[in-house]
Amino acid sequence: MPQIPRTRSFDSTLALLREGYDFISNRCARYGSDAFDTRLMLRRVTCVLGEDAARMFYEPGRFTRRGAIPQPTLRLLQDVGSVATLDGEEHRHRKAMFLSLITPASVRRLGDMFADEWQSRLPAWEAKRRIVLFREIQPILCSAVARWAGAPLRGKALKTRTRELAAMVDGAGSVGPRQWRGAWLRRRTERWARRVITDIRNGSRVVPEESPAAVIARHRDLSGHPLSASDAAVELINLLRPTFAVDRFIVFAGLALVEQPHARAFVTGGGDPELEAFAQEVRRYYPFFPVVGGRALESFGWRGHGFRKGDWVLLDLYGTNHDERSWNKRDSFRPERFLEWDDNPHSFIPQGGGDVRSNHRCPGEPITVEIMKRAIDMLANRLDYDVPPQDLSVSRSRMPAIPQSRLVITNVRPRN
Ligand code: HEM
Repeated sequence: MPQIPRTRSFDSTLALLREGYDFISNRCARYGSDAFDTRLMLRRVTCVLGEDAARMFYEPGRFTRRGAIPQPTLRLLQDVGSVATLDGEEHRHRKAMFLSLITPASVRRLGDMFADEWQSRLPAWEAKRRIVLFREIQPILCSAVARWAGAPLRGKALKTRTRELAAMVDGAGSVGPRQWRGAWLRRRTERWARRVITDIRNGSRVVPEESPAAVIARHRDLSGHPLSASDAAVELINLLRPTFAVDRFIVFAGLALVEQPHARAFVTGGGDPELEAFAQEVRRYYPFFPVVGGRALESFGWRGHGFRKGDWVLLDLYGTNHDERSWNKRDSFRPERFLEWDDNPHSFIPQGGGDVRSNHRCPGEPITVEIMKRAIDMLANRLDYDVPPQDLSVSRSRMPAIPQSRLVITNVRPRN
């Protein structure tokens, strides 16, 4: 059987922290292979990249997410008891609940709430001389998604939840103080979310029947039992936190408008297809979720290599989105490529790949794209603003990535 190349160093954890998003693709290029073996945090792992690797990884039922990401990161991203930690029928059943919440009409409603919330803050933006886009977009997202979910927030509560969600997302890819802060603040969000669920269940909080918080509060598992209050709270947070995390894609879209004059011309005055193509190219081009991990639930072979039950595999999401075999001029920002895209679920995987119902692919892609389209339209077509000199560099070893300056804009005014 052909051997998968192995790194020379015994453990690659420091190299991963140093090279960040490029860690897997650097080694795949060096070994001329789509896979290599190494150790991370002293554990043996096989790292893989590319469309064919994604097809192998997203074979339904092949990998569990349990034991596949370090516990502190899991706590900030998904948490114990969440849909991500389930497998088989239990997973499909819980996932179906998520998918029932993310219908085209519900996604449009969330998009409208986001656009209205932004519109209502514009007078304050105009009054300020200087706006840090990353910071200003956060309470807008937090308020919109909380209202959509059926747990509206105002005033101090909105500020508190915004700070907590920001810390969770920011802490997820790091080790040390950023992660500790996220974990600490997460406990408070959990207390609040548990209260929301309990209040809905005992009738002291009245929310529309079809609102996501009500659906989660009512949801029953395969044996007919309601979720525990803490598991239901985890799933409510599982809607709020990742929707909030679209803040990064919005800032990257703003950065693309600044850095890519050709792409700005493409989207300015364009219609829905152009906005969508622009959003997709932002998700492909800019670094966000670096990898996804799985532990094999069964033995299987791939490219002549035998994987055994329990083996740990990391699939490079960012590297696959930049694989030159799938992406012509992979390092150029070209939104027009998505006007004629073949919908391949294994080569474009910023939020996971394969079939969303039968594996762990993110159910939130329609929400992500809708919010991004609204934001791109606002930034490209509805507002005028200046972009002063600033450090727009994006460190590829900071995960999750963000432009150094967080994108400062000045002199914001509605376009006439
Ligand atoms: C900010 C943009 C987002 C990114 C980069 C992102 C990324 C991801 C990734 C990489 C996964 C794991 C896929 C896997 O394990 O194979 C995932 C799973 C998940 N995401 Fe997202 N996501 C985003 C937005 C959203 C939104 C808006 C929602 C919901 C409203 C959401 C809810 C979830 C849930 C519930 C899972 C677990 C799915 C499962 O295990 O079956 N995400 N996401």
